[in-house]
Amino acid sequence: MTPIKNDLFIRALLKQPVERTPVWMMRQAGRYLPEYREVRSKAGSFMQLCMNPELACEVTLQPLDRFNFDAAILFSDILTIPDAMGLGLSFAEGEGPQFARPVRTAADVTKLPVPDPEAELRYVIDAVRLIKANLQGRVPLIGFSGSPWTLATYMVEGKSSKSFQKVKSMMFEQPLLMHQMLDKLAQSVAAYLNAQIAAGADAVMVFDTWGGMLSHDDYLEFSLGYAQQVRQLLNTDRDGRQIPTILFTKGGGLWLEAMADTGYDALGLDWQTDIGSARARVGDKVALQGNMDPITLYAQPEVIREKVAKVLHGFGQGSGHVFNLGHGVLPDINPEHVKAMVDAVRELSPQYHSQA
Ligand code: CP3
Repeated sequence: MTPIKNDLFIRALLKQPVERTPVWMMRQAGRYLPEYREVRSKAGSFMQLCMNPELACEVTLQPLDRFNFDAAILFSDILTIPDAMGLGLSFAEGEGPQFARPVRTAADVTKLPVPDPEAELRYVIDAVRLIKANLQGRVPLIGFSGSPWTLATYMVEGKSSKSFQKVKSMMFEQPLLMHQMLDKLAQSVAAYLNAQIAAGADAVMVFDTWGGMLSHDDYLEFSLGYAQQVRQLLNTDRDGRQIPTILFTKGGGLWLEAMADTGYDALGLDWQTDIGSARARVGDKVALQGNMDPITLYAQPEVIREKVAKVLHGFGQGSGHVFNLGHGVLPDINPEHVKAMVDAVRELSPQYHSQA
């Protein structure tokens, strides 16, 4: 297997010494890049882009060529699993994702299949193989999935939601049915991530975008419990190489201690959470990834640099930090401002690793 030339990201996740803090950015391949918009229009639609491994590979590599990020992330979407389960995914322009056949009844849940990643999701696994071959060990490749709970919100609501009324009603009125659905999703997510690992993903990240919408008890039972089940089912040893795992719950700042006990190597932090306090709370259990406010990137480069400095200082000395935004980059950000962020991390972070 090709060794990874720049493995700062992997070492930071495993809390091994690094010379500087690695940096990548959620949604780093996307609409803020003119070269992405060009490939996307060639593909026709976002899903056609995801389903074409050559084009998915091309857009995955674009932000690396421009900014020299320390990790690549597979270009795909979290909603590929529900689509493979037969729910009929489409993205209406300007309206976000939609499912033709949302899950509403016990019969709908019973007939949900656990997709075979090498069959129904073959296009994703082929993209992983192709990206991995094209990277030639330049930086690690991140595979990803939505968390069972976050996928369930889209599957029941049928689209993006603000109140989560339908999915929460199912959870309150038919908890056993909800558990049955989440259990199938945990199996599907684990099989999907294991296939990405086998195909070459060097780390995997679980996006629990909507866990933070739950009450304390419901978060532990319906979201975190299934993220943990996924973790237990992952094969994190590939040919003697450890595949680090990251759990990101947006709004998860309240539950970091519980999240740190689930076996993931690192936690993704949103920007509301103070990274220094987060580190004190989780101790040595996990590494942390984050957490600059994505809106900072609208500010001038000098301000961006100050805010980068603040996050680095907030984490403090030593390994165990991967610099990122607290959520995805927005579509109208100036790419030059992203460069200012990356340059600032490269210039300002070595002082925190003097022991390395
Ligand atoms: O981070 C990356 O660069 C990897 C690619 C990635 C995408 N989506 C590409 C994408 C990842 C990791 C995701 C995850 C995802 N998808 C999440 C979790 C995100 C998080 O940060 O918490 C969610 C909730 C989704 C579902 C989804 N996909 C939504 C709500 C949207 C927005 C729809 C819109 O019109 O704005 C998408 C589309 C999407 N996924 C885009 C990209 C680059 C924009 C597609 C386009 O129009 O080109």
